[in-house]
Amino acid sequence: MNILGIESSCDETSVAIISGDKLTSNLISSQDFHKNYGGVVPELSSRAHLQIVKPLLNNALEKSKLKLQDIDLIAATAGPGLIGALLVGLTFAKGLALSLKKSFISVNHIEGHIFSGFLMKDKPEFPFLTLVVSGGHTLLLYVKNFSEIFQLGTTVDDAAGEAFDKVSKMLGFGYPGGPQIQAAAKMGDENKIPFPIANLDDPYNFSFSGLKTAVLRYIQKNHKSTDDIPTGILNDVAASFQKAVVSALLQNCARALDRFEVKSISLVGGVAANEYLREKLGALAERHNKKFVVPGLEFCGDNAAMIAFRAKTLYENGVRDSLSAKPYPSLKKNHFLSHHNI
Ligand code: KG4
Ligand code: ZN
Repeated sequence: MNILGIESSCDETSVAIISGDKLTSNLISSQDFHKNYGGVVPELSSRAHLQIVKPLLNNALEKSKLKLQDIDLIAATAGPGLIGALLVGLTFAKGLALSLKKSFISVNHIEGHIFSGFLMKDKPEFPFLTLVVSGGHTLLLYVKNFSEIFQLGTTVDDAAGEAFDKVSKMLGFGYPGGPQIQAAAKMGDENKIPFPIANLDDPYNFSFSGLKTAVLRYIQKNHKSTDDIPTGILNDVAASFQKAVVSALLQNCARALDRFEVKSISLVGGVAANEYLREKLGALAERHNKKFVVPGLEFCGDNAAMIAFRAKTLYENGVRDSLSAKPYPSLKKNHFLSHHNI
């Protein structure tokens, strides 16, 4: 069976093909021009998806040595994400399915991330905990199998990636923030500034807006503007901020590992590319005797391989979608099952 996946929820256009159990192509085109605006400009994103999706599909077919007619199932991200951007990939995929008379499945982007660990040779084992950390979401989940996912916690304000992006902007590093904070942090002292970690009533929820404000206050109190902050101090702020974010994430993962019986823990989403987080969560998993799975970098950020893989698991569970599937901007409140039912 040949599955074509298309991802266009934000600023990456991606096309992937899974043939049988093998990923034969996963092409990703990143819209780097958004950095000139300090963040993603939705309308420009939609237009760029529109331009690149067809050539990317042709390249993916060529790389997989397949013809369009060889595809059996077509899948695309329906949400959450930027509505115009989603519309491009989803409509393109539905059009293909209709004209080729093939099955079609719409995929939830977060579910794509959740199962992205299965794209690795060493896969997560059910049941597993997963920490989803991306630009728009921060979720701690208990994954029982491919169809039962329980939400333990989420962010009550900013997402982890969003905090990286906002603090990066404050420090004058630009967008996207994660990789630049990570690079600066490597040269800084993580113990220099004791930034706060939110302590919420719910042991599995996260909050990053207080931390973001604390960074802003620190800068305003000590310096006129970011321009007159010496590089050494910028590096210390980056390292101390990164440590605070990672400590907050780890604290809730540790609580969940104490409370829930799992075989593995996986770290997924764009922020999963962060080396410091990978190292610290890996060490926590080891202390708890759990298998730790983190996807390779090409599967952490947005990619169509995870969309094609999620479609495969849905198809194998009997799911078939209609061509009336619509794009949606955010995750519905009760999208995942409640952890009170585990
Ligand atoms: O999953 P993703 O590619 O897109 C969304 O679905 O949001 O995640 C993008 C986020 C951005 O906020 C970016 O700053 C962050 O992932 N990110 C990182 C790193 N690389 C990307 N955050 C921290 N450290 C990194 N190395
Ligand atoms: Zn994502």
